[in-house]
Amino acid sequence: MECRIAKGKYEDFKCDALISFQYQDGPNLNGRLGKVVKDAYKSGHFKGHSGELFQIYPLKNVRAARLILMGLGKKAKSGSENIRKAAGLAIRLVRKLKSIAFLPVDDSAETIAQLIDGAILGDYRFDQLKSEKNESLIRTLSFFTGGVDIPQTHIDAFRIMNEGTLIARDLANMPANLLNPENLASDAVDLGKAFNIPVKVFDEAQIKRLKMGALLGVAQGSANRPKFVIWEYEGGPSGQAPIVLVGKGVTFDSGGISIKPAEGMEAMKGDMGGAAAVISVMSVLGAIKPNINVVGITPLVENMPSGSSYRPGDVLTASNGRTIEIISTDAEGRLILADALVYAKRYNPKYVIDIATLTGACVVALGQNICAGVMGKDQGLIDALLEAGQQSGERLWQLPLWDDYQELIKTAVADMKNTGGRWGGAITAACLLANFAEGYSWAHLDIAGTDHEETGNHPYRYKGATGFGVRVLSRFILNEAGMLLG
Ligand code: BES
Ligand code: MN
Ligand code: ZN
Repeated sequence: MECRIAKGKYEDFKCDALISFQYQDGPNLNGRLGKVVKDAYKSGHFKGHSGELFQIYPLKNVRAARLILMGLGKKAKSGSENIRKAAGLAIRLVRKLKSIAFLPVDDSAETIAQLIDGAILGDYRFDQLKSEKNESLIRTLSFFTGGVDIPQTHIDAFRIMNEGTLIARDLANMPANLLNPENLASDAVDLGKAFNIPVKVFDEAQIKRLKMGALLGVAQGSANRPKFVIWEYEGGPSGQAPIVLVGKGVTFDSGGISIKPAEGMEAMKGDMGGAAAVISVMSVLGAIKPNINVVGITPLVENMPSGSSYRPGDVLTASNGRTIEIISTDAEGRLILADALVYAKRYNPKYVIDIATLTGACVVALGQNICAGVMGKDQGLIDALLEAGQQSGERLWQLPLWDDYQELIKTAVADMKNTGGRWGGAITAACLLANFAEGYSWAHLDIAGTDHEETGNHPYRYKGATGFGVRVLSRFILNEAGMLLG
């Protein structure tokens, strides 16, 4: 979908639909359609309520084929999320039209960004596996800005971050029989080629040589062998300390010997949402080409019960020599991340950020699809992530990571155990990671509650994977690269 700033007057702009956003407070469109909008309010047919849609056509005196009024509710109550949702609802109405133009709600680049978010995300369908497709015919989105000059490069960046989110959704929606570690690694290689970023894929023999005993423990029960994929995006000066992103890539999490209940287990095909986000961020960087170095690391495994599985009571030795007693084979994400975090050290990174569908406890703490948890000890890094979360609409909320919590993962048998009991589960998982994220500045994102949309009627989250993490992490990286958008 092409996105661009529209030039000239909206009256002279030829398109299939003009979408005008309106507050409940009263009509706000000037020009030749001003009266039409006023009449819509006067007649009582349109009130500007949040989510309200009103279509007017045929039109006189303008070149657009139809006008769509999209309500935003009361101005004082309307925020950025409201605009994303409204754009998502409006786009659903025009999926079979080709050229769409948006009329300004205000002049800011952020508002345009929110419209692009809602429009691109709202237009998404996962129909790859259906015989009958429901394709969108939309070709161009044009934005009237009320005369404010927003560079096309910024518009492109907003578009690309959303398209990256759709790549992550496709990957996470793909079932585990069609997307195992090997398939995901080869997708990563293909995307790397498409965006001209070098990708390394380690197979099991190389993973063994690296002594990644925690990752290998998780992988050993599955017939699908593990992979360890690394992307090296060098947009900055060589020698500049990179930002390293680490994404949990469990292509299916059955729980292993500590098997999960049958109900809802199918959702665990999405337990590679962190890896999908990292891979997609790398493709975003390949498309935007910011001046910064970024490494993406994705440990890829399948967690299955079998005669060769790791068991509760086993002790695994991670690549930094630390030993971990397994209490639950379902606490597998932290184990594969442990080895990946140790590996990240060799890049002498500026920051390491991991992203993972890690704990049900995080969902209990923060709810579904409101915000993701963020933990770490470098408050400067956390603050920058929180800021990127606000800007992108993928909000984060900080949970504490005081050393006191380390007590909960102590055991008589090994250096630590892989679960911390009933309470504070999102934090005790992060505590285990902290024992491997040593010697650099690190933050952990727990996206278990934001990675999946269950309802199927959200304006811009299609039922299934949300692609959460791509927008906040890309935005964070662009901020770091000094590419301040809007
Ligand atoms: N992948 C799950 C976490 C998860 C739960 C993601 C719900 C998305 C939605 C993770 O591997 C897991 O099973 N965690 C366990 C940890 C427990 C055994 C300490 C959990 O949260 O129950
Ligand atoms: Mn699990
Ligand atoms: Zn898991």
